[in-house]
Amino acid sequence: MSDKILQVKGLTQQFKGVLAVDHINMDLEQGRIYGLIGTNGAGKSTVVNMISGNLRPTDGEILFQGEHIERLDAAHHAKAGIARTFQNLRLFGDQTVLDNAITASQISRKYNLVEMLTYLPRYRREEKQFSERAYEALRTMGIDQYAEMQADNLPYGLQRRLEIARCLAIQPKLLLLDEPAAGMNPQESLQLVNDIRGIHKDNPEMTILLIEHDMKVVMNLCEYIYVMASGTIIAEGTPRQIYESEEVISAYLGGSVRNKRKQHAKSQ
Ligand SMILES: Nc1ncnc2c1ncn2[C@@H]1O[C@H](COP(=O)(O)OP(=O)(O)OP(=O)(O)O)[C@@H](O)[C@H]1O
Ligand SMILES: [Mg+2]
Repeated sequence: MSDKILQVKGLTQQFKGVLAVDHINMDLEQGRIYGLIGTNGAGKSTVVNMISGNLRPTDGEILFQGEHIERLDAAHHAKAGIARTFQNLRLFGDQTVLDNAITASQISRKYNLVEMLTYLPRYRREEKQFSERAYEALRTMGIDQYAEMQADNLPYGLQRRLEIARCLAIQPKLLLLDEPAAGMNPQESLQLVNDIRGIHKDNPEMTILLIEHDMKVVMNLCEYIYVMASGTIIAEGTPRQIYESEEVISAYLGGSVRNKRKQHAKSQ
């Protein structure tokens, strides 16, 4: 069996008048951390929206563990083990922190309405599991002490962490993180990077796809990087290959990296 957990073939999204994603291909292997970078409007979130089932592709194929999922909805994707965070937070603000995580984990429930209403053993057993998993996810993200707080009242940086905890509560096989450090201060984002590394260490089978603008973060964390511009993938490779790609430097990274490399060469 292939160790590819996700294969994207000719994936395309045509909005009215905008070709946001234009026949891209990606191959993600199980247990690795991937980066997806590119300038604003390159199409990164649109790719994640299609992989997570929040947006149906106009064309192309998405295979998750060898199964076609491009025509299925987001609930199916979540059940299959694909979890994602949103660039703009989508928490249930009026629920507690714990309930936000429990609601996410319930995606895998097996009990039916009758079992729930009559409080049958399977319902009780599953509910207990959900709340244990949710707590565990909050602990991993260091926010378990806020379990009973209303999500809206959490400071912004912790709300971002709760978004990730909600993903972890479903014990995903593929975790899609759309700019998880957006709006965080440098200290918070450094902590987040360490936590993502920790999550990966504790769950070596989990595949992570990270959209992130901070190049230092991407270069440090990701084993393989896709670079998008105007809806296409203009380069892909290891951090070193991306760092050295002239195409990427001129299209995306701009002069800053070129200058840094010149300085680096001079100082050698
Ligand atoms: N629902 C939509 N309807 C129409 N156009 C859209 C829609 N969503 C995105 N677009 C357009 O598709 C293109 C890609 O957008 P997308 O949000 O995927 O970019 P991005 O790489 O995530 O950018 P950013 O770094 O700013 O988050 C942009 O031109 C955007 O305006
Ligand atoms: Mg985006």
